[in-house]
Amino acid sequence: MTKLLYIKASPRGAGSQSAKVADAFLEAFKSANPDAEIDILDLATENLPEFDGNKIAAKLAIIGGQEHDAAQKTAWDEITEIAQRFISADIYLLAVPMWNGSIPYRMKHYIDLVHQPGLLIGLDPATGYIGLLEGKKAYLALTSGAFSPSMPSPAFGVDHHSTYLRSWLNQAGVTDITDLRFQPTLLTADPEADLAAAQDNARAAA
Ligand SMILES: Cc1cc2nc3c(=O)[nH]c(=O)nc-3n(C[C@H](O)[C@H](O)[C@H](O)COP(=O)(O)O)c2cc1C
Repeated sequence: MTKLLYIKASPRGAGSQSAKVADAFLEAFKSANPDAEIDILDLATENLPEFDGNKIAAKLAIIGGQEHDAAQKTAWDEITEIAQRFISADIYLLAVPMWNGSIPYRMKHYIDLVHQPGLLIGLDPATGYIGLLEGKKAYLALTSGAFSPSMPSPAFGVDHHSTYLRSWLNQAGVTDITDLRFQPTLLTADPEADLAAAQDNARAAA
Protein backbone atom coordinates (compact mmCIF):
# COMPACT_ATOMS: atom_id res chain seq x y z
CA MET A 1 0.00 0.00 0.00
CA THR A 2 1.24 3.49 -0.84
CA LYS A 3 2.18 5.50 2.23
CA LEU A 4 2.27 9.29 2.31
CA LEU A 5 4.13 11.05 5.13
CA TYR A 6 2.94 14.63 5.67
CA ILE A 7 5.40 16.70 7.70
CA LYS A 8 4.22 20.06 9.05
CA ALA A 9 7.10 22.39 9.92
CA SER A 10 5.07 25.47 10.91
CA PRO A 11 3.89 25.81 14.52
CA ARG A 12 0.97 28.02 13.40
CA GLY A 13 -1.63 25.23 13.42
CA ALA A 14 -4.82 26.11 11.56
CA GLY A 15 -3.33 29.49 10.60
CA SER A 16 -0.41 27.95 8.74
CA GLN A 17 -0.31 29.04 5.10
CA SER A 18 2.06 26.25 4.09
CA ALA A 19 -0.28 23.70 5.71
CA LYS A 20 -3.25 25.21 3.83
CA VAL A 21 -1.45 24.54 0.55
CA ALA A 22 -0.37 21.06 1.65
CA ASP A 23 -3.87 20.26 2.97
CA ALA A 24 -5.31 21.02 -0.49
CA PHE A 25 -2.80 18.56 -1.96
CA LEU A 26 -3.65 15.96 0.69
CA GLU A 27 -7.43 16.13 0.17
CA ALA A 28 -7.03 15.71 -3.61
CA PHE A 29 -4.49 12.93 -3.08
CA LYS A 30 -6.83 11.06 -0.72
CA SER A 31 -9.70 11.32 -3.25
CA ALA A 32 -7.48 9.90 -5.99
CA ASN A 33 -5.86 7.29 -3.71
CA PRO A 34 -8.49 6.21 -1.16
CA ASP A 35 -6.45 3.19 -0.07
CA ALA A 36 -3.26 5.12 0.64
CA GLU A 37 -1.95 5.20 4.19
CA ILE A 38 -1.54 8.76 5.51
CA ASP A 39 0.89 9.52 8.34
CA ILE A 40 0.88 13.10 9.68
CA LEU A 41 3.94 14.32 11.57
CA ASP A 42 3.39 17.73 13.19
CA LEU A 43 6.82 18.92 14.27
CA ALA A 44 5.29 21.51 16.62
CA THR A 45 3.86 18.78 18.84
CA GLU A 46 6.12 15.82 18.07
CA ASN A 47 8.60 14.93 20.81
CA LEU A 48 11.96 15.21 19.04
CA PRO A 49 14.78 13.86 21.23
CA GLU A 50 17.97 15.85 21.62
CA PHE A 51 20.61 14.95 19.05
CA ASP A 52 23.08 14.58 21.90
CA GLY A 53 26.61 13.29 22.43
CA ASN A 54 25.64 9.60 22.50
CA LYS A 55 23.74 9.93 19.24
CA ILE A 56 26.62 11.79 17.60
CA ALA A 57 29.10 9.18 18.88
CA ALA A 58 26.86 6.41 17.49
CA LYS A 59 26.71 8.17 14.11
CA LEU A 60 30.47 8.68 13.98
CA ALA A 61 31.06 5.05 15.01
CA ILE A 62 29.02 3.90 12.01
CA ILE A 63 30.95 6.17 9.66
CA GLY A 64 34.21 4.91 11.20
CA GLY A 65 33.15 1.24 11.02
CA GLN A 66 33.32 0.74 14.81
CA GLU A 67 31.03 -1.21 17.14
CA HIS A 68 28.55 0.67 19.31
CA ASP A 69 28.95 0.58 23.09
CA ALA A 70 25.78 0.12 25.19
CA ALA A 71 24.93 3.84 25.38
CA GLN A 72 25.51 4.31 21.66
CA LYS A 73 23.35 1.28 20.85
CA THR A 74 20.45 2.70 22.86
CA ALA A 75 20.93 6.07 21.14
CA TRP A 76 21.07 4.48 17.69
CA ASP A 77 17.95 2.37 18.32
CA GLU A 78 16.08 5.62 19.02
CA ILE A 79 17.45 7.23 15.84
CA THR A 80 16.56 4.15 13.78
CA GLU A 81 12.96 4.14 15.01
CA ILE A 82 12.49 7.82 14.07
CA ALA A 83 14.19 7.36 10.69
CA GLN A 84 12.17 4.23 9.87
CA ARG A 85 8.98 6.25 10.00
CA PHE A 86 10.50 8.47 7.29
CA ILE A 87 12.02 5.63 5.27
CA SER A 88 8.76 3.65 5.23
CA ALA A 89 6.92 6.36 3.25
CA ASP A 90 6.68 6.34 -0.54
CA ILE A 91 5.60 9.97 -0.89
CA TYR A 92 6.64 12.96 1.20
CA LEU A 93 4.46 16.03 1.59
CA LEU A 94 6.38 18.77 3.38
CA ALA A 95 4.74 22.03 4.50
CA VAL A 96 7.64 24.34 5.27
CA PRO A 97 7.64 28.13 5.72
CA MET A 98 10.78 30.17 5.11
CA TRP A 99 12.32 31.33 8.37
CA ASN A 100 15.15 33.82 8.10
CA GLY A 101 16.00 32.68 4.61
CA SER A 102 16.05 29.02 5.61
CA ILE A 103 13.87 26.38 7.28
CA PRO A 104 12.28 26.40 10.78
CA TYR A 105 14.60 25.02 13.45
CA ARG A 106 12.41 22.02 14.28
CA MET A 107 12.57 20.95 10.63
CA LYS A 108 16.35 21.13 10.83
CA HIS A 109 16.26 19.19 14.12
CA TYR A 110 14.20 16.48 12.43
CA ILE A 111 16.60 16.32 9.46
CA ASP A 112 19.57 16.05 11.86
CA LEU A 113 17.83 13.08 13.52
CA VAL A 114 16.88 11.13 10.39
CA HIS A 115 19.67 11.94 7.91
CA GLN A 116 21.96 9.15 9.04
CA PRO A 117 24.56 6.77 7.59
CA GLY A 118 23.15 3.36 6.82
CA LEU A 119 19.58 4.74 6.99
CA LEU A 120 19.22 7.60 4.49
CA ILE A 121 22.78 7.88 3.21
CA GLY A 122 26.00 6.03 2.59
CA LEU A 123 29.41 7.71 2.35
CA ASP A 124 32.08 6.52 -0.04
CA PRO A 125 35.51 8.04 0.72
CA ALA A 126 36.31 8.12 -2.99
CA THR A 127 33.00 9.21 -4.55
CA GLY A 128 31.08 10.90 -1.73
CA TYR A 129 27.51 10.54 -0.47
CA ILE A 130 25.18 7.83 -1.74
CA GLY A 131 21.41 8.25 -1.37
CA LEU A 132 19.82 5.10 0.06
CA LEU A 133 16.20 6.01 -0.68
CA GLU A 134 14.82 4.80 -4.00
CA GLY A 135 11.61 5.42 -5.92
CA LYS A 136 10.27 8.14 -3.60
CA LYS A 137 8.49 11.36 -4.54
CA ALA A 138 8.41 14.60 -2.58
CA TYR A 139 6.04 17.58 -2.72
CA LEU A 140 7.20 20.78 -1.02
CA ALA A 141 4.54 23.30 0.07
CA LEU A 142 6.72 26.41 0.40
CA THR A 143 5.69 29.76 1.84
CA SER A 144 7.48 33.02 2.58
CA GLY A 145 6.17 36.43 3.52
CA ALA A 146 8.41 38.63 1.36
CA PHE A 147 10.60 36.35 -0.74
CA SER A 148 9.41 34.99 -4.04
CA PRO A 149 11.41 33.61 -6.97
CA SER A 150 10.20 36.55 -9.07
CA MET A 151 11.41 39.28 -6.66
CA PRO A 152 14.94 40.72 -6.68
CA SER A 153 17.38 38.81 -4.48
CA PRO A 154 19.02 39.56 -2.06
CA ALA A 155 16.73 42.62 -1.57
CA PHE A 156 13.74 40.38 -0.75
CA GLY A 157 15.81 37.56 0.72
CA VAL A 158 17.93 34.67 -0.45
CA ASP A 159 16.44 31.20 -0.94
CA HIS A 160 18.30 28.84 1.39
CA HIS A 161 14.86 27.32 2.00
CA SER A 162 13.79 25.35 -1.09
CA THR A 163 17.44 24.90 -2.09
CA TYR A 164 18.33 23.35 1.28
CA LEU A 165 15.31 21.01 1.30
CA ARG A 166 16.13 19.89 -2.23
CA SER A 167 19.81 19.27 -1.53
CA TRP A 168 18.93 17.32 1.65
CA LEU A 169 16.41 15.14 -0.20
CA ASN A 170 18.70 14.72 -3.22
CA GLN A 171 21.54 13.53 -0.99
CA ALA A 172 19.18 10.92 0.51
CA GLY A 173 18.27 9.73 -3.02
CA VAL A 174 14.97 11.59 -3.49
CA THR A 175 15.16 13.42 -6.80
CA ASP A 176 11.51 13.47 -7.95
CA ILE A 177 10.55 16.71 -6.20
CA THR A 178 7.69 19.10 -6.99
CA ASP A 179 7.48 22.60 -5.50
CA LEU A 180 4.04 23.87 -4.46
CA ARG A 181 4.76 27.55 -3.85
CA PHE A 182 2.68 30.26 -2.19
CA GLN A 183 5.16 33.12 -2.24
CA PRO A 184 4.93 35.85 -1.15
CA THR A 185 2.18 35.40 1.45
CA LEU A 186 2.48 38.94 2.88
CA LEU A 187 3.78 41.29 0.15
CA THR A 188 0.83 40.68 -2.15
CA ALA A 189 -2.24 42.79 -2.90
CA ASP A 190 -4.53 39.76 -2.83
CA PRO A 191 -3.31 37.02 -0.46
CA GLU A 192 -6.61 35.15 -0.60
CA ALA A 193 -6.55 34.86 -4.40
CA ASP A 194 -2.86 33.85 -4.32
CA LEU A 195 -3.58 31.18 -1.69
CA ALA A 196 -6.50 29.87 -3.76
CA ALA A 197 -4.27 29.70 -6.84
CA ALA A 198 -1.56 27.85 -4.89
CA GLN A 199 -4.16 25.41 -3.56
CA ASP A 200 -5.49 24.81 -7.10
CA ASN A 201 -1.94 24.14 -8.24
CA ALA A 202 -1.45 21.72 -5.32
CA ARG A 203 -4.68 19.86 -6.15
CA ALA A 204 -3.58 19.55 -9.78
CA ALA A 205 -0.21 18.16 -8.71
CA ALA A 206 -1.95 15.54 -6.54
C1 LIG B 1 10.61 33.32 12.53
C2 LIG B 1 10.13 33.75 11.16
C3 LIG B 1 11.06 34.07 10.19
C4 LIG B 1 10.64 34.42 8.92
N1 LIG B 1 11.58 34.69 7.98
C5 LIG B 1 11.18 35.03 6.72
C6 LIG B 1 12.14 35.27 5.70
O1 LIG B 1 13.34 35.18 5.88
N2 LIG B 1 11.70 35.63 4.48
C7 LIG B 1 10.36 35.75 4.20
O2 LIG B 1 10.03 36.09 3.07
N3 LIG B 1 9.42 35.48 5.14
C8 LIG B 1 9.79 35.12 6.39
N4 LIG B 1 8.87 34.84 7.35
C9 LIG B 1 7.43 34.88 6.99
C10 LIG B 1 6.87 33.48 6.75
O3 LIG B 1 7.68 32.72 5.87
C11 LIG B 1 5.46 33.61 6.15
O4 LIG B 1 4.63 34.30 7.04
C12 LIG B 1 4.88 32.24 5.81
O5 LIG B 1 3.68 32.43 5.11
C13 LIG B 1 4.61 31.44 7.06
O6 LIG B 1 4.09 30.17 6.70
P1 LIG B 1 3.19 29.40 7.76
O7 LIG B 1 1.89 30.21 7.88
O8 LIG B 1 2.99 28.04 7.21
O9 LIG B 1 3.91 29.39 9.08
C14 LIG B 1 9.25 34.49 8.63
C15 LIG B 1 8.32 34.17 9.63
C16 LIG B 1 8.75 33.78 10.87
C17 LIG B 1 7.73 33.42 11.93
